[in-house]
Amino acid sequence: KNVAIMMGGYSSEYAISLKTGSVVYKHLASEKYNAYKVHIFKDKWVCVTEDGKEFPIDKNDFSVTIDDHKITFDCAFNAIHGTPGEDGHIQGYLALIGIPQTSCGMYQAALTFNKRDLLSTLKPYGIKCATSYYLNAGDAIDEQAIVAKVGLPCFVKANKAGSSFGVSKVHKVEELRNAVAVALKEDDEVIIESFLDGVEVSVGVINYKGNVTVLPITEIVSENDFFDYEAKYLGQSQEITPARISPEMEEKVSKMAKNVYEILKMEGFSRSEFIFKDDEPYLLEVNTVPGMTEESILPQQAQVAGISLPELFGNAVELALA
Ligand code: DAL
Ligand code: MG
Repeated sequence: KNVAIMMGGYSSEYAISLKTGSVVYKHLASEKYNAYKVHIFKDKWVCVTEDGKEFPIDKNDFSVTIDDHKITFDCAFNAIHGTPGEDGHIQGYLALIGIPQTSCGMYQAALTFNKRDLLSTLKPYGIKCATSYYLNAGDAIDEQAIVAKVGLPCFVKANKAGSSFGVSKVHKVEELRNAVAVALKEDDEVIIESFLDGVEVSVGVINYKGNVTVLPITEIVSENDFFDYEAKYLGQSQEITPARISPEMEEKVSKMAKNVYEILKMEGFSRSEFIFKDDEPYLLEVNTVPGMTEESILPQQAQVAGISLPELFGNAVELALA
């Protein structure tokens, strides 16, 4: 089978995606799968061969011609974090031209990538989340109203972004404006959330061999003020799998994460983030193209569950093809 590993993308997360894509390539390329690296950037969609040569992708049928050989793909492994891989664009494009892919559907991607819409969709199902205040680019910033609603400290986040790009923890009202400006560099919408003081956990839920499976839970202990970019990728955090939480908390959050997967009719990978407040899990977000770099959480969880990376990635391809 020919598998295109799609990586790169149009957002600040492109460098992380290139790392994710390389890890997937390393573990997927085998006798069973002819894996190809496909770089998706605004100015070029190219297949990159082992010798570093680039061949343009024909967007009409997502094929590539290498040395007079036309290659078509049986499956796309979506390793693009952020737009256009995690927000529904790639899902829609591939669905239109009939190529199966490893992540969730277009609707699920678009919904989960929008933090406000995700959390408000899940609220009626009893999924708790932080109190939030929402702003569009160009809206007046009413500091008093924001602080009255969410309190201090609070988190200012780009509504549609990942890897903590555009996220700040705000301790003083004077810091709000600058934090909003930082978030607006990543997206045209901002979500400002109340601070949840408690243990943070990351819960991977995947379809493994046809069963919705909750992976061992990871506890996040950031050395920084929060789980920011440096904590995520530059080693300034401890990620402890399995998390040191009580069996009751583990059961509660596992159930909730599985519930979220099922309510949303997810497919493929997901990794949801929660913070426990008074022993109750509060949902922060759902990632549908979770990082698979050497530092990333979901591959660690899979390995603790006894699933090797070739198994994890092969399983995703097999489910997409099924
Ligand atoms: N957005 C990053 C890649 C993650 O969720 O792992
Ligand atoms: Mg995220």
